[in-house]
Amino acid sequence: MSLPLRQSTARETRPPSFVQAPAPTAVAPAAVLHAALAADRVAIPPRFFYDELGSRLFTVITALDEYYPTRTEAGLLREHLPAIAAAAPVVGNTLVDLGAGDCRKAAALFPVVRPQRYVAVDVSVDFLRDALGELQRHHPQVEMVGVGTDFSQQLQLPDAVPPGRRLFFYPGSSIGNFTPREAVPFLRSVRDQMHGDGVLWIGVDLQKDAAILEPAYDDALGVTAAFNRNVLRHANRLAGTDFDVADWRHVAFYDPREGRIEMHLEALRDLVVTWPGGRRRFVAGERIHTENSYKYTVAGFAQVLADAGLRSVGCWTDPRRWFGFFVAVPA
Ligand code: AVJ
Repeated sequence: MSLPLRQSTARETRPPSFVQAPAPTAVAPAAVLHAALAADRVAIPPRFFYDELGSRLFTVITALDEYYPTRTEAGLLREHLPAIAAAAPVVGNTLVDLGAGDCRKAAALFPVVRPQRYVAVDVSVDFLRDALGELQRHHPQVEMVGVGTDFSQQLQLPDAVPPGRRLFFYPGSSIGNFTPREAVPFLRSVRDQMHGDGVLWIGVDLQKDAAILEPAYDDALGVTAAFNRNVLRHANRLAGTDFDVADWRHVAFYDPREGRIEMHLEALRDLVVTWPGGRRRFVAGERIHTENSYKYTVAGFAQVLADAGLRSVGCWTDPRRWFGFFVAVPA
């Protein structure tokens, strides 16, 4: 009896490669949090939402009735993907997925984009291991790289990512966590890594009635409240603080003048938070600012792209004009 011979032409599934790259300006998370607590008005950057539990809670948020952005964007891509892919050449590019998470949004693009290489970028390389390994098994012909890097200021891809024409995919309106003034240098750093020739696909939540926006950030089940309050558990682990989650309530509102949702945590009583080397008093009603989520007009976001040296070559919106998906190239 003989063993079946392997055909020499059969492709082996190679494992994806992984790199953890510190951001050029990386400050240790504990130091960031201690500095935040020392400030007059405390603000914790939204990237601290995403520990393991926070990432899971965000996934649940995307399934809520009130949270329209994820499913509206998915609908746009389902309906218009061929047209979006035709707006600027993308087939055979390196697909760079910014904030890849479970890699499922990008995986849905594969049949149309047919990337030669897939680079999944997220804050922590550990979030990417399982998802990327799984995806690699389904697409053995695509070279896959997982990059862990904090790109909350600027994007700096490590040298391990080969050059070659790039399609940057930045879905979900994550750009909304930057102020418009911060979004410009960030998008310029993305453009710089196109080396004069590449494409950006970016999803942007649009301005709309507060009666739609506010429930999306304060849902009836309280999942967004849990997501917001979980930042305190994460801080306790990273910074050695002793926040009691029960002392804080979720606050979310739309500021139409700024065009942004603000999320805060409000102290329910006078209290003191301590950590090795410090303490901070909060009075009842005092707030910790945890997130801004900016909403744009189509013209307003095209201007942000232009200020970053990018030219919008197409924008797709749903019939209610709740969400926009832009294709941009270096100007
Ligand atoms: C991941 C930044 C796009 O702003 O809608 C969801 C995060 N915060 N609910 C958003 C979030 C509260 C989300 N982004």
